[in-house]
Amino acid sequence: MRNEKIAIIGGTGKEGKGLAYRWLQAGYNVIIGSRSTEKALQAVMGLKELVPSEIKQNIDGKMNEAASEEADIIVITIPFAFHRDILETIKPFAQGKVVLDVTVPLVPPKVSTVQIPYNGSAALFAQDILGENVKVISAFQNISFELLLGDKPIECDVLVCGTDKATRELGVRLVSDVGLTGWDAGPLENSIVAEGLTSVLIRINKKYGSLSAGIRITGIEK
Ligand SMILES: NC(=O)c1ccc[n+]([C@@H]2O[C@H](COP(=O)([O-])OP(=O)(O)OC[C@H]3O[C@@H](n4cnc5c(N)ncnc54)[C@H](OP(=O)(O)O)[C@@H]3O)[C@@H](O)[C@H]2O)c1
Repeated sequence: MRNEKIAIIGGTGKEGKGLAYRWLQAGYNVIIGSRSTEKALQAVMGLKELVPSEIKQNIDGKMNEAASEEADIIVITIPFAFHRDILETIKPFAQGKVVLDVTVPLVPPKVSTVQIPYNGSAALFAQDILGENVKVISAFQNISFELLLGDKPIECDVLVCGTDKATRELGVRLVSDVGLTGWDAGPLENSIVAEGLTSVLIRINKKYGSLSAGIRITGIEK
């Protein structure tokens, strides 16, 4: 059993559900956040069907604001186009907390071309909007929801960037609890590499007819 309660903002979507499925199994309490209570509770029902009966009570669904208020850790799984709006919505409830941002700055239709946001990265943008009382982690940009919702080993490591060392250590633990290897990849300025890699992996998937291209850090004994 993990002590922290995790709110997943946009947890009704694909990536959010995948992460919820994994963290529930690791013993966390998870709140699915949505702009609609009904949609959140529908997603909760779907997830309850996937997890063992003894952990079904560890999941709830609420509006994004209430979910953020109740949580210790807030996770953002929202398409880039709505990133700013959602950050503004949760900002008052995120003060003094950790926000893990999974957002990739994809700009459809050119999702297989790296596009760098004007301020450097989605994670830096999150830090700017949320302010200095919020610790931001960026992670999971290269892990597709299909892999998270499956039960096969995932052959992809996770680069974890964050406001400071302790926050990145928490990020690496959250990655490890999902069943993956996370690496402290430094400050939020470095997040653009992980964010940009997603477009490269989408391109590689298209070119080689795969759904699950990933990256591995090699040369380190752990
Ligand atoms: N899909 C993947 O495999 C994957 C992999 C790695 C990273 N990511 C990144 O993770 C993020 C989420 O991806 P996704 O595929 O999970 O997205 P998604 O399923 O398309 O959407 C996620 C949630 O965003 C909310 N949303 C939709 N329109 C909105 C709007 N106008 N304003 C505010 N919220 C809105 C919805 O929640 P409510 O309607 O319930 O509010 C929706 O369920 C993206 O930044 C993506 O690049 C995705």
